[in-house]
Amino acid sequence: MSVFLNNLEQASALLKAGRLVAFPTETVYGLGADAGNSVAVAGIFKAKQRPSFDPLIVHIASFDQIRLVCSDLPDVARKLALAFWPGPLTLVIPRNDQISDLVTSGLPGVGVRVPSHPVALELLQLVGRPIAAPSANPFGRISPTTAQHVLQGLGESIDAIIDGGPCQVGVESTVVSCMGPIPVILRPGGCPKEAIEDVLGFSLEIAQPDPKADDAAQASPGMLSRHYAPRTPLILVDRLAVAYPLPGRKCGLLTEGTRHWSNGFDRIEQLSDTGDLRTCAARFFAGLRSLDSAALDVIIAHRFPEFDLGIALNDRLQRASAGSIAGEGGLQLQHSESMNWLPA
Ligand code: TXA
Ligand code: MG
Repeated sequence: MSVFLNNLEQASALLKAGRLVAFPTETVYGLGADAGNSVAVAGIFKAKQRPSFDPLIVHIASFDQIRLVCSDLPDVARKLALAFWPGPLTLVIPRNDQISDLVTSGLPGVGVRVPSHPVALELLQLVGRPIAAPSANPFGRISPTTAQHVLQGLGESIDAIIDGGPCQVGVESTVVSCMGPIPVILRPGGCPKEAIEDVLGFSLEIAQPDPKADDAAQASPGMLSRHYAPRTPLILVDRLAVAYPLPGRKCGLLTEGTRHWSNGFDRIEQLSDTGDLRTCAARFFAGLRSLDSAALDVIIAHRFPEFDLGIALNDRLQRASAGSIAGEGGLQLQHSESMNWLPA
């Protein structure tokens, strides 16, 4: 039975004893375990029902602790860490042997970051060792941005949840691999691509999943086609077409808020009054959850502008929508219907 726990000393003692503790970060809530304790780390995979090929991000209290996880620090990683930590940037760097193989899924690199949430930082300082923490949700489902979300998804299978209020950034960290000669973005996220490029002085590629490889064989693990998914089918559109919502179907709309829509949706989640991408990101997963619990037949979502945090939001929408048009999740859309909707 899980408990809310606001005593960080107790939470730290639980982590040191190999137990699982969910805690707030500025991006999303994480499900933490001692990264050097393989049994504890195995508990994360079990609680989340996460496949073992998908590596976990390790959290440290400050840049000074980086030697606890890595064998060698590439110059580019040092530069990015000094520019963006604490904050929503994960760097994949050569790992050392203190980190459980399970954490890295046997890969030579470890993903590491210093979160900026004060509760996370205090907890990490108290524990004094690296903490592996994926998002605290069942694998493939919508990420948690409140302690209640964690309770709903994983309440039965973890030891404690620290409630630090709603997450301010709202999408997961940007993951940058520094393992090759040129850094590459493995996952767009809360640290904008443009800001990273400004620091580096050159532009970055976002690694694309190989459409021919299955999930376990992707060049970059975690590039799953379907992820962050509501149970309700989700259709991602560039713009709303003339005839909407879908006749005879209960439709929800997830929108940034500055574009026009007609009435007739059963539920609308407008993420911001002004279209501000930071506000949209902070409310994104909660908005998706709220639509998912509204007994709708389908969720229609607008593509965000493709810059700043819009890149991360579009990435999440793309994965949330994968499979929906093919009918996964129970809704079979006719070809003509999907054409009407101008799916992105
Ligand atoms: O914002 C965040 O990053 C949150 C909070 C809790 O810190 N954590 C998070 O973890 O989103 P998770 O497990 O949901 O995402 C981990 C992803 C993997 O799927 C993979 O894409 C990438 O990060 N990753 C982690 N370690 C890696 C490694 N060693 N090599 C390559 N990619 C890695
Ligand atoms: Mg996740």
